[in-house]
Amino acid sequence: MKSIYSIKGMQRISRRSKSEGMTIALVPTMGALHEGHLSLIRHAHKISHIAIVSIYVNPAQFGPGEDFSKYPRSLGRDKRLMKKLGVDYLFLPTDKIIYPNDYETFISLEKLSRVLEGKFRPLHFRGVATIVAKLFNIVQPDIAIFGQKDFQQSVIIKKMVKDLNMPVKIVVGPTVREKSGLAISSRNEYFNAEQKQRATVLYDGLMLARRIISEGERDARKIRQAIKRLINKVSGTRIDYVAITDNENLQPLKNLQGKFTISLAVWLDEVRLIDNISVDLKE
Ligand code: PAJ
Repeated sequence: MKSIYSIKGMQRISRRSKSEGMTIALVPTMGALHEGHLSLIRHAHKISHIAIVSIYVNPAQFGPGEDFSKYPRSLGRDKRLMKKLGVDYLFLPTDKIIYPNDYETFISLEKLSRVLEGKFRPLHFRGVATIVAKLFNIVQPDIAIFGQKDFQQSVIIKKMVKDLNMPVKIVVGPTVREKSGLAISSRNEYFNAEQKQRATVLYDGLMLARRIISEGERDARKIRQAIKRLINKVSGTRIDYVAITDNENLQPLKNLQGKFTISLAVWLDEVRLIDNISVDLKE
């Protein structure tokens, strides 16, 4: 695995690989790699000749008061894990080359960035869309792989690619979970065992919803209430939202049919967690 630090160097490798007929798959990450990231990297290898991972903790997607400075960083360990998986290139830019002093261009989606997470993290997706667009221009991948864990992020990236005619195929990999159901996340590192136990209530809420839907309930409001009741029973929880939305425009649904996604954001003590499941009633 070769680490690449410069934009020109990365672009050169990409151009050369493509001229040799190779396809490139990119897995953008912020590091602190866990099994969720690794599953995306394994998938990259399956569907492409070359697997490139980027690690960059993007300041533009963290709001004031969020955990940018204490976000977990573990480059040595990350490198060992990626070598084991046979990652071809690791792109490791610095803040200075990504956002030089005179930087001023940002990408924001007018509607999709304002709902769900966007209501609570107003500039988050502006930061995400901007860094992902920059990574696409730097790495020039044929395919980029994202996780269902960050459902809204994947919807926004797909829409940006479509709206801006970017020649990248977006692939979404399933959420990897611990045995307890807790979605694996770099932010789980902030928890002790007892907190992790309480954090499983997010998944329990989603599974409760799945059960009542399978029993015939179609009223979104009732399903959301059932999830909220369950979560509120657990100490230290504070719900930001529980939403049932369309998979593409992310607008809330009243009566459920076809495909939709149930997503939630919940504080557990000092840590904010998100999770979701997609449901297809025709399946
Ligand atoms: P990060 O949180 O490091 O996640 C990198 C990728 O891993 C994202 O596509 C995310 O959805 C995916 N992922 C995280 N947890 C997962 C899990 N349990 N199962 C499957 N996939 C999982 O998301 C970001 O970084 C950033 O916003 C980024 C896209 C890199 C832009 O800065």
